[in-house]
Parts: sequence; C-alpha cells; structure tokens
Amino acid sequence: MTQLIAIAGSPALNSKSTEFLQKALARAEAQGLTGNLFSVRDIPAHDLVYGAGENNPHLKKIIDQLERATGVIIATPIYKAAYSGALKTLLDLLPHKALAGKVVLPIATGSSDKHLLAIDYALKPVLFALGATQVLNGIYIADYQVERDSLGQLNLDKEIALRFDEQVDTLAHEARLIRNQVLFLDRSLA
Ligand SMILES: Cc1cc2nc3c(=O)[nH]c(=O)nc-3n(C[C@H](O)[C@H](O)[C@H](O)COP(=O)(O)O)c2cc1C
Repeated sequence: MTQLIAIAGSPALNSKSTEFLQKALARAEAQGLTGNLFSVRDIPAHDLVYGAGENNPHLKKIIDQLERATGVIIATPIYKAAYSGALKTLLDLLPHKALAGKVVLPIATGSSDKHLLAIDYALKPVLFALGATQVLNGIYIADYQVERDSLGQLNLDKEIALRFDEQVDTLAHEARLIRNQVLFLDRSLA
C-alpha cells in the first residue's frame, strides 16, 4: 500500500525544491514507509493549462495513488511571493477533497526569507480547500541556508536541517497512524 505521495511543483529541470522533496521522501522511506514522487513536469503543459481529462494517464496515476496515500509532501519554489503557478494548475485538476483524511507537509524554497509566510498565506488555504485534515507547519528553505558540496549534494545549515528532519519525521509518524486507523476500520467492517 502506497503511504506517501510526493508532489514536485517546480517547473525547473534542476530544481532545489524537488531535490529537498526527494530527500524528505527518502527519509520517510528509511522509516519503513513507501512512497512515490510525481512532478508537474510529468504532465504535458497543454494538459496542465487547458485541463487534462480524467483518463490522462499521468493525472490518473496521481489521483489513484493519492486516494490510497495517507501522507502527502508538496514542494514548491516561491514565485512572485506565492507557490508556483505550475503547482496550482496541477492542484486545480485534482478531485474535490482529494486531500481529505491525509496529513500534508508543505516544503518551499525561495531566494530569501522575505516570503517565509507564503506557505501560510498562499499554499495552506488551497490545501485545506482540497480537504486536508492536518497540514504540518512546513519547511521554508532560503538560499542562504543551503550549500552545494563538492559531491553536488545540497546541504542545509544546522537550524533548518533540524526542522527538516523533525517535520519529515512528524509526517511519517502521522501518516503511519492514519494508515493503522484505516486498516483497523477496514478489518472491523469486514
Ligand atoms: C519567476 C520566478 C519568481 C521568483 N520569485 C521569488 C519570490 O517572490 N521570492 C523568493 O524568495 N524567491 C523567488 N524566486 C526564487 C526561487 O523561489 C528560488 O530560486 C527557488 O529556490 C527555486 O526553486 P526550484 O529550484 O525548485 O525551482 C523566484 C524565481 C523565479 C524563477
């Protein structure tokens, strides 16, 4: 059973927010959860902008796996003081209440911390509109908190690294709890 879905909202090919999303998913997987990563880049731009039909194979895969997942990680770059427009086009294609019963962890990267609150004022209302029952505080990473080492790895400074680990671990814990509740209910009703 897929427990986590990771959604990358950056249209960029070499994307920092997507790299952090991969790191978050890997950390949760190391704790025994299973998950899959999808990107806005998986869906043709035409379909994102003009609306993909329910049978669009990329979108269908995301929706099917989202139905079964109990935890969702959403990563986005900050564009013009908000989340990316590409992410919004994908969120607009999801069914009504697609995030119901799930715990969601938002991750955002920005060039500075000027738009630190964008997760709260821009992204969270959309996640709640999609039915998310629990949205974690989230992780905002500004460029000055990141360094690429000689192996090409992105490293976080100590303070944000601690927050990153704490938020991902909370997501993994909550997603597992919800999953156990769902399995318990399924068994009780069987
Ligand atoms: C069109 C555009 C608009 C941006 N607007 C902002 C902004 O308003 N605030 C900010 O902190 N960074 C802004 N940035 C910088 C990106 O948020 C930052 O480089 C981010 O880490 C990119 O993430 P990505 O590599 O996952 O795409 C902008 C970048 C682009 C390309």
